[in-house]
Amino acid sequence: MVPVFSKVAVIGLGTMGAGIVEVFAKADFPVYAVDGSTELAERGRGFVTKSLERAVSKGKLSEADRDATLERITFTAELSDLADADLVIEAVPERMEIKHSIFTALDDIVRPDAILASNTSSLSLTEVAAGTRHPERVVGMHFFNPAPVLQLVEVITTVLLADDVADAIRDLALKLGKKPVVVGDRAGFVANALLIPYLARAIALYQTGKVSRVDLDNACKVGIGLPMGPLTLSDLVGLDVVHEVCEVMYAATKRASDASPSLLRQLVLAKRLGRKTGQGFYDYSADAGAEED
Ligand code: 3HC
Repeated sequence: MVPVFSKVAVIGLGTMGAGIVEVFAKADFPVYAVDGSTELAERGRGFVTKSLERAVSKGKLSEADRDATLERITFTAELSDLADADLVIEAVPERMEIKHSIFTALDDIVRPDAILASNTSSLSLTEVAAGTRHPERVVGMHFFNPAPVLQLVEVITTVLLADDVADAIRDLALKLGKKPVVVGDRAGFVANALLIPYLARAIALYQTGKVSRVDLDNACKVGIGLPMGPLTLSDLVGLDVVHEVCEVMYAATKRASDASPSLLRQLVLAKRLGRKTGQGFYDYSADAGAEED
């Protein structure tokens, strides 16, 4: 039977999860937005509200539509609320053991015909699926940051996936106004397999001290016509995420160019993770002035 998605849930309300919640709620879907505690669920509400406020202040969204969008979202810390969900999208940190614990818990909560999707950036979806009771319903639905803005959704298939699921997720992505591409399970899928080694190379180049961060970023922005330079983009994606995807890519390819540069490792250890912590290659704290170097 072709899956129908009326009630959607998103687990993990960090930058990506909150963005995905916003995408669904704006497209009229009732959404359960779940995180591990009431505080984290409320933090997620804050992210979504801030993003909607930004659209209101730009005149892109009316206050009534903002309120209606927020009303479609149920913020909760209870996985057990998801018993009637048709689609659950996991957007928790990129650790296989965390993914396994979420999917195993969902096995006991959601209906057997509900679809379980992962927003994983690079982990093996086959391994995630194989750890569940119904691997034929586990699919990748990979959004790009900022999820409310970027149109790409990678639909990731595995050898275990039931035939009609990828098509159903593709159609759903189109309904959300996104542009889906379907790709089989491989390290980094398509976009990250190309993007992350480029970001790692840029960080390694910056680490040589031969170019300033602004000049390096500008070389890519102005010279190659990219919307933002690689250090700014790494800060947006999150340095922990860039590092984790490098680790997965390197484990798969053993290519030195895929390895996480030592500066990136150090920033992750120092918890300078980019925009989300206020500091990465650049300083995003409220009192930081324009940075020229
Ligand atoms: N949330 C919601 N909306 C946002 C946003 C956010 N975080 N950031 C920007 N926007 C919106 C703005 O409100 C604006 O909307 P409008 O056109 O309706 O007014 C629009 O995006 C453009 O924003 P700005 O004018 O402020 O700035 P830019 O024109 O520089 O665009 C950008 C910002 C969209 C982030 C653009 O620089 C860009 O596309 N950068 C590249 C991002 C990218 O490559 N992302 C992919 C990362 S890889 C990934 O996510 C995969 C993962 O697995 C690692």
